[in-house]
Amino acid sequence: MSQESSSPRDSFSTKFGVIAAAAGSAIGLGNIWRFPYETGVNGGGAFLVVYLVCILLIGLPVMISEFLIGRSAQRNPFGAFKSLAPGKPWYLIGLMGVVAAFMILAFYTVVAGWTLEYIYQSFAGTLKGKDPIELKGMFDSFRYESYRPLLWFVIFIGLTGWVVIAGIKNGIEKYTKILMPMLLIMLVAMSVYVLTLPGAGKGLEFLFKPDFSKLTPNVILKALGQAFFSLSIGMGTLITYGSYIKKKENLGSTALSVAGADTFIAVMAGVAIFPAIFALSNVGEFDVTRLADEGLVFITLPSILYSIPGGPILSTMFFILLSVAALTSTISVLEVIVTYFVEELKLTRKRATISAVASVSILGILSVLFSGVFGFLNFTSANILLPLGGLFIVLFVGWSLSKKITREELTNSGSIKGKFIPLYLFLVKFIAPVAIAIVFIYGIWNAIH
Ligand code: TRP
Repeated sequence: MSQESSSPRDSFSTKFGVIAAAAGSAIGLGNIWRFPYETGVNGGGAFLVVYLVCILLIGLPVMISEFLIGRSAQRNPFGAFKSLAPGKPWYLIGLMGVVAAFMILAFYTVVAGWTLEYIYQSFAGTLKGKDPIELKGMFDSFRYESYRPLLWFVIFIGLTGWVVIAGIKNGIEKYTKILMPMLLIMLVAMSVYVLTLPGAGKGLEFLFKPDFSKLTPNVILKALGQAFFSLSIGMGTLITYGSYIKKKENLGSTALSVAGADTFIAVMAGVAIFPAIFALSNVGEFDVTRLADEGLVFITLPSILYSIPGGPILSTMFFILLSVAALTSTISVLEVIVTYFVEELKLTRKRATISAVASVSILGILSVLFSGVFGFLNFTSANILLPLGGLFIVLFVGWSLSKKITREELTNSGSIKGKFIPLYLFLVKFIAPVAIAIVFIYGIWNAIH
């Protein structure tokens, strides 16, 4: 069951390569599509504050834990727990991760497909001269009344599979190094432009001025779920990537860079979107929640981009960059299933990828056709499976894994200081598990009552 493979394990070649791959996984539709509408429906500023607290106190410790589990075990999540805790049931976390990967791919790839539709629509010029309400109508009729989402889904999952079969290094990594910085520049430029629009202040106020009366247990659960989703933690993606990190890299600082970049992009997306909604809707007391659903990005961004010269080109470019960001994320999720199939079921990489894509497609087609399935997968994976996975991961490192291994991984066997280790251990032993457990139980309790 647990024999090692004979060839030396692959690894990322440079520190930049590690950060680019992990940030490529983290930065995606979670930041630009999911974060703004979750913030919109859950009250704005107060949600943002809770989200940031979740990233710092829970997200970062979980991310560091995943990296160190992966790097010390040099295995897929299931195999990693088997080898670090032989004969104990911790490997179930790895299995749960594989299940979560299926669920995430089955709705995430649907949204990634929508970005392809919007590349096409931007290019064809059909979005021109429409106000946000009309754009919402267009989005809804595309999503609910046409067969096109199905087509785009199949194309996108096929593309993901194609990259995963071919290996990542020489294709996707080469392009993302150029395209991700471009996305960042475009997003920052859009935010700056949006701030010059009349009425933008209201949007900033919505995003940055917390109204704590809007905080309910369910909102806190959703902020936690969003933090996990956005950082790609709680299901072993970063255990898998951690297993490819060289022994000389600093895991703590890597995690900090990845989490920092991810959070910056999410906040930038918020700054580009909320002021735009308020500025473009021309309504005094505008109810953001009217637009804040899964269509938000597909409504707001075209309206911003089409209000400046060069709209069709800018909008086409933006959705191309967004689909690339989505692709680097779908790859990382599919990689979890494929690595598991290869290492545990002993399939070839090609067979593993084809069977993973085929089975994800079945669930994915259901989620295209039934928005209830889509909503269920979206809610359950982010708000239930990821926090549960994260809870067990910190419990594992805090209470089961030997401190010697933890120290060795975090100090690179003594060659770096690791001044933050006591704080980290305190967070993974007490703060993170207690916080996740409370938020989780309280949030679920509230959701079903
Ligand atoms: N974090 C990615 C995003 O924000 C999505 C993603 C990639 C993910 N890998 C994951 C989410 C693993 C949860 C778990 O778009």
